[in-house]
Amino acid sequence: MTATVVLGLAWGDEGKGRVCDALASDVGYVSRYSGGNNAGHTVRVGEEEFALHLVPSGIVREGVVCTIGNGVVVNPEVLAEEVRALEERGLEVRDRLLVDGRAHLVMPYHIALDSHREIALGSARIGTTNRGIGPTYEDKVARYGIRVQDIFDEGILRTKLKAALREKNSIFENVYGEEPYDVSDLAAWLLSFRDFIEPMVADTGTILREALENRQRVLLEGGQATLLDNDHGTYPFVTSSNPTVGGAIVGSGIPPRSIEYVIGVTKAYTTRVGDGPMPTELFDEIAETIRQVGGEYGTTTGRARRVGWLDLPAIKWAASLNGITHLALTLLDVLSAVEEIKICVGYEIDGRRVEGYPMHQTDLHHARPVYKTLPGWGEDITGCRMRVDLPTAAQDFVGFVETEVGAPLCMISVGPERDQAIIERIGT
Ligand code: GDP
Ligand code: IMO
Ligand code: MG
Repeated sequence: MTATVVLGLAWGDEGKGRVCDALASDVGYVSRYSGGNNAGHTVRVGEEEFALHLVPSGIVREGVVCTIGNGVVVNPEVLAEEVRALEERGLEVRDRLLVDGRAHLVMPYHIALDSHREIALGSARIGTTNRGIGPTYEDKVARYGIRVQDIFDEGILRTKLKAALREKNSIFENVYGEEPYDVSDLAAWLLSFRDFIEPMVADTGTILREALENRQRVLLEGGQATLLDNDHGTYPFVTSSNPTVGGAIVGSGIPPRSIEYVIGVTKAYTTRVGDGPMPTELFDEIAETIRQVGGEYGTTTGRARRVGWLDLPAIKWAASLNGITHLALTLLDVLSAVEEIKICVGYEIDGRRVEGYPMHQTDLHHARPVYKTLPGWGEDITGCRMRVDLPTAAQDFVGFVETEVGAPLCMISVGPERDQAIIERIGT
């Protein structure tokens, strides 16, 4: 069988958890491949709402095996708490959650560094989730990282902690005026998770490859999104991993040829949390309406999300970068609350009309959106289950986006509930 990647085309929170949940009815495995608990993926099932941070959203579907891949950074305390909370709500988690032994661990000093750096940057801050994600990936690349497997060899763990702290402690003491971290305290903290994590530790890449050979379906669930990608996003206002399709291969340990479908998820409008350019951002009452109706507050940090119109040049560029085979359009119902809908179809940069998505960050900061205006539909669409059920204006909006992006829609989400969706040509 083949794998399907579900990834965000914009700045995150596109509804990837919700789309994965819809697809997970039909798969054996769901795997996270990048990011950590900076992600917040919501799945709604009836009255129940699950906000998942590290555990893949497949956990909500009985029998689905969930893997946290080598490319994910894991805060063991957050993982333990998330598993505990899910089990308390009646889900079986530990028998079907696996964590790759190569995944790196988010340490308390990573979180402290994240927070100090943001304060030091002042108005140039990135607006991180303050979960220590960036500093953990930095250590991974610098080869100072502590991995899940290190918990099982205390000698190695202490040696690695000593190496990791050599420079850091002098930064904490001399730059930030803080107490240094103690190797024994940190080792004891990590060892306290040993019994919890041991039964879940696995070579998840090998497990996924075997599953694919055994004709199982695998779903790779992206965290963050394309415009937050460390290489391709709005750098430096990005995350420290690669949420794009290349990251799915590296971060899960499966070969490119096993990926058959890539589903790009976008809202019917745009949101962003954190700082950085967002050409279509709105500051008027339409933004407030969308924020209230769409519940646009961060799943992880609770921050109010910035809101703007759909940015087609960005979405088209992201779709092309990831080679998407299908598009999933979410939160269409929220646009029922606005009279007239705008879609950005190009930019004006320093008085020049630009069609594509600019490479220069400076251009993006100056880009003024050029809009196409479409009539709204002004009626409740949450009960629509087929495209023809949608009001004509909504069908026109959806058709325009699909044609412009150039990939068939496999899902139009018209509400947060599991069944509030129009499913078309689902790609798995
Ligand atoms: P993710 O990070 O991409 O998984 O997205 P989040 O879960 O952070 O944010 C998406 C939010 O939109 C969640 O609160 C979902 O419950 C909600 N949601 C998803 N799809 C729809 C939809 O079609 N309509 C509405 N009204 N809400 C949706
Ligand atoms: P999901 O998976 C939205 C943003 C942060 C900040 C930048 C860097 O739920 O879509 P980081 O903590 O990663 O160093 O922060 O990235 N960010 C997200 N925004 N959704 C997310 O995840 C995000 N994960 C990180 O707000 O701008
Ligand atoms: Mg989210």
